[in-house]
Amino acid sequence: MAQRPIAIASDHAGLDLKKLLVEELAAMGEPVVDLGTSGPESVDYPDIGDALARAIIEGKAARGVLVCGTGIGISIAANRHKGIRAAHCRDTTDARFARLHNDANVIALGARTTGSEVAKDCLRVFLNTGFEGGRHQRRVDKLG
Ligand code: RB5
Repeated sequence: MAQRPIAIASDHAGLDLKKLLVEELAAMGEPVVDLGTSGPESVDYPDIGDALARAIIEGKAARGVLVCGTGIGISIAANRHKGIRAAHCRDTTDARFARLHNDANVIALGARTTGSEVAKDCLRVFLNTGFEGGRHQRRVDKLG
């Protein structure tokens, strides 16, 4: 089976960082599906978070990357969907433990709060770190 893509999406506040992260994913050889937004017009982050969550739940993407101004609103939106574990990460330690302990399937980044190099590092760590399982599996199962 072909490798399922990484879905990425942002609101207007996250657009410039999203573009950089799309380039980063391409450099990593990851297939990407970009769900927008694609222009500077103001959009509502809940709509963007919902669209990305649906892409994962429907199996169209393996994991997701969300960007808004802070990473907070868009992660809240995605986490309202059963099966989505979106982690708002501000450094690589957050990204590492989000995978090791929480089996996060979405990383949420803040374009206004996290520098682009840190955001790119977070993305790489998120994609390259596995879930530890064991006692963490039981806890993740309780998230539903
Ligand atoms: C948009 O102005 C901003 O509120 C949004 O990008 C995000 O930061 C919300 O959490």
